Amino acid sequence: MEQQEVITLLSRRELDKMRQAGRLAAQLLDYLEPMVQPGTSTQALNDAAEAWTQAHGAISAPLGYKGPVIDFPRSICTSINEVVCHGIPSPDQILRNGDIINIDVTPIVDGYHGDTSRTFLVGQPSPLARKLVEVTEEAMWRGIRAVKPGARIGDIGAAIQTYAEAEGFSVVRDFVGHGVHRIFHTAPQIPHYGTAGKGKKLRKGMVFTIEPMINVGTYEVEVLGDGWTAVTADRKLSAQFEHTVAVTADGVEVLTLAPAQVSV
Ligand code: MF3
Ligand code: CO
Ligand code: CO
Repeated sequence: MEQQEVITLLSRRELDKMRQAGRLAAQLLDYLEPMVQPGTSTQALNDAAEAWTQAHGAISAPLGYKGPVIDFPRSICTSINEVVCHGIPSPDQILRNGDIINIDVTPIVDGYHGDTSRTFLVGQPSPLARKLVEVTEEAMWRGIRAVKPGARIGDIGAAIQTYAEAEGFSVVRDFVGHGVHRIFHTAPQIPHYGTAGKGKKLRKGMVFTIEPMINVGTYEVEVLGDGWTAVTADRKLSAQFEHTVAVTADGVEVLTLAPAQVSV
């Protein structure tokens, strides 16, 4: 993943672009959620996501994204059960009752990236799988709540790691959150583990993702021969949630939220 040294501080105008991209990303996940049912293929999720993204005038950032073996061949990442992240949608991968699946989307709107993911339950997963998913989402929110100007990058990881490990789970080290704006993956790196008070100071206008991957067993991962699919080394379950956030004058703004839906 590309890494530049300088951390860009976004202007109000750029933050507004990020809000538009973030909102569309959240709406895309909302759109896909009802398709998460036993019998749906990950290819069907991918194709629906690509069509929806195009219909909304956006571009799928993952499609063709540079990889070490192959460039990413699909529009979204779909990571089932022991897949930690970067799962590649495929027609022969069919959701089954009891699976958990992370769907990670990144539409580009007017040059800016909205990067968000959620882990969904397929039918009725085991109590352990449900607990993992709940803890992972809460871990992400604890990381988000650590963000404010003057706080340190290590405060985010410490908040996530302390909580996830107290719940008996482990925190993936090999993939981290990242700066995101016109560039998909840039500085700063945001580890989901670490020590409070360490690392660079957060400043108003910084924009990055918080995207903890939390495992039932070991935190170690292996990347399969495609250069993308990351699985837990022990093949036990992994879950992930991701938001794109901005550091504000007095705290944090989550950019990848859908506007509250009016339901009848
Ligand atoms: N959206 C992923 C992230 O959170 C990155 C996916 S890169 C891809 O950073 F090429 F695999 F799509
Ligand atoms: Co993502
Ligand atoms: Co990301």
